[in-house]
Amino acid sequence: MSNLKSLQEREKRLLLPTYVRQPMAVRRAKGMYVWDERGRKYLDFFGGVAVNALGHCHPAVVAAIRRQSQAYLHVSNHYYQEPQVALAERLVKVAGMSQAFLCNSGAEAIEGALKLAAKATGKREFIACHDGFHGRTLAALSLTHERKYRDPFSHVLMKSVKFTPYNDVKALRFALGTDTAALIVEPIQGEGGVRVAGEEFLRVAREACDEKGVLLVLDEIQTGLGRTGKWFAKDHTGIQPDILVSAKALGGGLPLGAFLSRDDLGGKFVPGDHGSTFGGNPVSCAAGLAVLQTIEKQRLVDRAAKMGTLLLEGLRGLRSDKVKEVRGQGLLLGMEMKDPAAPWVEKMRQQGILLNATSETVLRLTPPLIVSKPEVERVVQALGTELAPK
Ligand SMILES: Cc1ncc(COP(=O)(O)O)c(C=O)c1O
Repeated sequence: MSNLKSLQEREKRLLLPTYVRQPMAVRRAKGMYVWDERGRKYLDFFGGVAVNALGHCHPAVVAAIRRQSQAYLHVSNHYYQEPQVALAERLVKVAGMSQAFLCNSGAEAIEGALKLAAKATGKREFIACHDGFHGRTLAALSLTHERKYRDPFSHVLMKSVKFTPYNDVKALRFALGTDTAALIVEPIQGEGGVRVAGEEFLRVAREACDEKGVLLVLDEIQTGLGRTGKWFAKDHTGIQPDILVSAKALGGGLPLGAFLSRDDLGGKFVPGDHGSTFGGNPVSCAAGLAVLQTIEKQRLVDRAAKMGTLLLEGLRGLRSDKVKEVRGQGLLLGMEMKDPAAPWVEKMRQQGILLNATSETVLRLTPPLIVSKPEVERVVQALGTELAPK
């Protein structure tokens, strides 16, 4: 029996069946590439769901992990730890925020952001957007719009959440009420099919929040840390949130999330209001600091903008009647197909290229920020070959 078949059988017995997996088992990964158990090499334009901003096993990240793991792995949040403070220092600076709470994942960061908003305002209600995705823990799921994720759990989701149409400025002005604690928005809806918020929508969101005393929470879990060609997608607009949520690329492949607060907002929390056994794990923080330093040192934000434009133009140039629209910003791009996108993911995998399908019909491209021109050209060419009339 092949290793893949045996893995599939053992997994079926042992792991809860929550994931639809591609039919490949990974043996190793390095830079832009992943190798399967048969030794076949794939060019990775998925990047572990937009996590591997520096590609796989970047030497700076591996060295930071090695260094920190030789010092200590875990001592608990009962003690002061340099890696947490060093990471927070750099992170709040690039985000233009003031303070951070460090945790382990995106959903966990969203949960904390909601608690901070609720405590700071004393209000009860949250407004999220149609087609938005914020995670799968109960509060994060309560803010997630997609019925397929919500419906099985609708009986336990928070009742104090309302949804407003994405990019609908008029509806947004009416959505915020006197009991609204926070409005939560993704600058680009990644899971929702790579839909970009208009600049006006974000500007009106900021204005309406200010008028009504509502906190603006930007979920930059997928869009942050250089992916869209700016440190954060908000930087395309100049709009500052009250709370900014980050995760995914932050840990360089290790679990790490954070929510960042503006000015004195963080001071609304007192000891005991929030916490996490593993939050701000020193090894993850050391990896995170290496990620931020490397993005800065290698000018990867600019590179994401440049390579993103090249990829966007290449994809738009394909002009296939199977494609409805190509959209996105930087290296977070979506190609909306007229039919389901999953078969295209498999066709590309057969060609040695990893992509992802989201929102049924959208082919999502989220390559590492280290991607090069020949790699962009290879993917555009391969898609062109697949999309060509046969
Ligand atoms: C915008 C956004 N928010 C939240 C999450 C949840 O993050 P995690 O899977 O780390 O809990 C995701 C994950 O895809 C996301 O894209």
